Amino acid sequence: MHLRIGLVLLLLVLLAAPGAVAAGPDVVIYSGRSKSLVAPLIVQLQRETGLKVEVRYGKTAALALTLQEEGARSPADLYWAQDAGALATLSRKGLLARLPEALLARVPAELRGAQGTWVGTSGRARVLAYSTRRIKPEELPKSVFDLTAPKWKGRVGWAPMNASFQAFVTAMRIHHGDEKTLAWLRAMKENGAKAYPKNTPILQALAAGEIDLGLPNHYYLLRFKAADKNFPVAQTTFAKGDIGNLLNVAGAGILKSSKRKEAAQRCLAFLLSPKAQQYFTSSVFEYPVIEGVIPNPSLLPLRQLREQAAPVDLGKLDGLPATLKMLREAGLL
Ligand SMILES: [Fe+2]
Repeated sequence: MHLRIGLVLLLLVLLAAPGAVAAGPDVVIYSGRSKSLVAPLIVQLQRETGLKVEVRYGKTAALALTLQEEGARSPADLYWAQDAGALATLSRKGLLARLPEALLARVPAELRGAQGTWVGTSGRARVLAYSTRRIKPEELPKSVFDLTAPKWKGRVGWAPMNASFQAFVTAMRIHHGDEKTLAWLRAMKENGAKAYPKNTPILQALAAGEIDLGLPNHYYLLRFKAADKNFPVAQTTFAKGDIGNLLNVAGAGILKSSKRKEAAQRCLAFLLSPKAQQYFTSSVFEYPVIEGVIPNPSLLPLRQLREQAAPVDLGKLDGLPATLKMLREAGLL
């Protein structure tokens, strides 16, 4: 009996030792940003910092749940989210550490959490996309609330299951209240808004003539245009301050439970470096969050976008469960 336990222990030691000594990462990132988008940047990060980085990819909301379940036992050092809401949730639950001032100071105040626990790493805007074949710019609606008018019956596409859309609904709830938001969702449905599983098919449906207006994130059109400059879709913002113009961010924070905060800070510093920021805008068509990056000429200027944006505190976009409940109530999920 003792011999058997001894053998098992020996085996465990033999199995664990090489891994523990040689293969352990310097830092673990939980990334809600997809691998296809950020893998090249992770390669660069490792090269620049000399850190051995392990990345666990997943959906932003699912990883946030995992982090809450794991608590202090989490192997994660850095959490990189696709939108501000998940970061706001983790911050409110006390799972994120306060970041050094030097990191915080690199990012404009409206693109990071007020508690200093997370920063935006790139900007993602909600826009109004439209068919250039069937819509004249002068007939475009000025507000997202105008989309329930009879004129737009059956002509608008949206993606109620998409996380960015849901973040926008959360912003509408904060800004206009639950009652008005639920009424808008129901009116949209009654007006024949066509639901797509995500943003890409919205753009395809616009080009194919299934719909004339759509509510995607800004960068999808740029991807289509990069492949085909005659892609028959354009995009714009609603009137200044309209909630349809939500300027959200992908962002990151360091786990309070991390024992490798210094390494995590170096990763975050890299994500805010001119090189990484240039990658976000040139290759992924997102907005940089720091100054001094060469603007992507096919993007609406960031200054214009920030001026047009709805005045929303991204640190308060943590009401996803209530938003999902509302979407179900409206029969959209
Ligand atoms: Fe997206």
